[in-house]
Amino acid sequence: MDKLNRKAIIAGNWKMNKTASEAAVLIDELIPAVKDAGCEVVICTPYTSLVTAVEKTKGTNIHVGAENVHFEDHGAFTGEISASMLTDLGVEYVVIGHSERRQYFAETDQTVNKRTLAALNGGLKVILCVGESLTQREEGVTEELVRMQVKIALQGVTAEQMANLVIAYEPVWAIGTGRTATADQAEEVCAQIRKVVGELYGEAVAKATTVQYGGSMNAKNAEELLSKPDVDGGLIGGASLKAPDFAAIVAAATNG
Ligand code: 13P
Repeated sequence: MDKLNRKAIIAGNWKMNKTASEAAVLIDELIPAVKDAGCEVVICTPYTSLVTAVEKTKGTNIHVGAENVHFEDHGAFTGEISASMLTDLGVEYVVIGHSERRQYFAETDQTVNKRTLAALNGGLKVILCVGESLTQREEGVTEELVRMQVKIALQGVTAEQMANLVIAYEPVWAIGTGRTATADQAEEVCAQIRKVVGELYGEAVAKATTVQYGGSMNAKNAEELLSKPDVDGGLIGGASLKAPDFAAIVAAATNG
């Protein structure tokens, strides 16, 4: 059972939600709700809530992540945040290549690769997002596209660094739409992702790499999605903003 040997990770991606004061309230609710988790629990918050999140989660089982990172370490990049700024705060994870960044902020496979390298070299754990649009799925290019996204993002990443990298399969058409991929659709692409990792780094790394599904995952559908052999966790948007819903997904990962 390869799946049992991998780290199941449930990560919340808060996106552009919650002020720091509101984050404090949500974290206070989350701490008791997920304290018995049998999986790794991560909350990825806006930059402005990171200090609060790190402080509040000290001594708990909740890990904190950012939602993006710049690829340079410092310098004249107005408005950007570097890996060393995040690790200095005690931030452990970072989401890279989310489809909203690709869609609205001109993120490309090449900049995703640069951010991934900067984050890993800077000591962060990376949640790397890939996934196809509805048009691309209808055109039948999901597999080729996701393979390409993974291969470009991982250029220059070593086999050892793969221990600090999680891949999240997030079909764009399922994000925030309430239209979840079926468990079989999620499994098919997550298995493909693992296959590409195997081609690049060998069987052992492929078997050890956590692959998450994201896109309208909620308290109701989490168990079925997480029961699939290649779905090792979830990247949760909307449902991560409500403590009982997020806790239910964490419990589903614990049971699955
Ligand atoms: P929703 O769970 O709101 O569909 O968002 C998924 C997502 O984009 C997580 O990164």
